[in-house]
Amino acid sequence: MGIDRPGKFDFIALKGDPIQASNFYGQDILSVSQFTRESLAYIFSVAEEMREMVQGMGATDLLRGYVLACLFYEPSTRTSSSFIAAMERLGGGVIPITQGVQYSSVSKGESLPDTIRTLEQYADAIVLRHPQVGAAKVAADYAHVPIINAGDGTGEHPTQALLDLFTIREELGKIDGLRVAMVGDLKYGRTVHSLTRLLSMYDVEIFLVSPEILRLPLDQANDLRDKGIRVRETYHVADVISTVDVLYVTRVQKERFADLSQYEEVRDFYEITPDLMKQAKERMIIMHPLPRVGEIHYAVDDDPRAAYFRQMRNGMYIRMALLAEVLGKARQ
Ligand code: ASP
Ligand code: CP
Repeated sequence: MGIDRPGKFDFIALKGDPIQASNFYGQDILSVSQFTRESLAYIFSVAEEMREMVQGMGATDLLRGYVLACLFYEPSTRTSSSFIAAMERLGGGVIPITQGVQYSSVSKGESLPDTIRTLEQYADAIVLRHPQVGAAKVAADYAHVPIINAGDGTGEHPTQALLDLFTIREELGKIDGLRVAMVGDLKYGRTVHSLTRLLSMYDVEIFLVSPEILRLPLDQANDLRDKGIRVRETYHVADVISTVDVLYVTRVQKERFADLSQYEEVRDFYEITPDLMKQAKERMIIMHPLPRVGEIHYAVDDDPRAAYFRQMRNGMYIRMALLAEVLGKARQ
């Protein structure tokens, strides 16, 4: 896939990162289970280089001549725009089907496989968000270009988990030894599913904070315990706020509820306020994949521990690194 075209990004190769696990060229990115600590360290080092480049030059032509298709069957602000920004800052082009598939031939009844087989005629990689668990895998089975999962229903959101982990490392300088609380909709939240899996590769303690009906699915909680992770469950943020290093707050995923009266029961279960933050450690961070709909009070935004805006920006650097990896440009 065109790796013979020279890129301008020589300093990535010159960085001399001891971890040479750049093995995602031509690969689909479907699940966090594809990553190891070594490959994560490598991607994070490339993301740091991307940040340096953006801060210094704004853009480069590393992916000039490449095209990315962004195919979103569900709403998105951050994932879609940061992938587009990532591709454009690397000099590539984008086919944006992000404003609603109703304006594409999906509304005429075109299937996912046929839509994928169409876009791969024009693009070198496809970013897909879809409401069904496993949709990215189905797309990958048909595609001849890499598929990047941008969220498959309640399944996974692997690129979000990468940017989340990158943010933790950037903000706190390490991952091992941390206490992380996942708060809110642990049942339907795909970002939670991906991030807890990634965290289980590290020596962390995980607190699961949710109402009863939104607990992390049992198989996932058991997987964490099987991997030796200390897991504790509670209903109340107040039980954990004073001890955690990371408070990862999530939105109750209204769109996943079959019975909206159940949603109404839990929609306002949590609200992080400045008052609650008084009990938190001085050196800790609050994260949120966003969008928020009331879980974090706006008055918390000015607290230096509120990392969610920085977290969003990191998404662009991580996605730049991933695109360079998948299209074979991070190794030149
Ligand atoms: N934006 C994230 C997702 O698409 C989280 C959310 O929507 O609450 O999974
Ligand atoms: N975090 C996230 O996936 O945001 P969007 O749904 O806006 O893409």
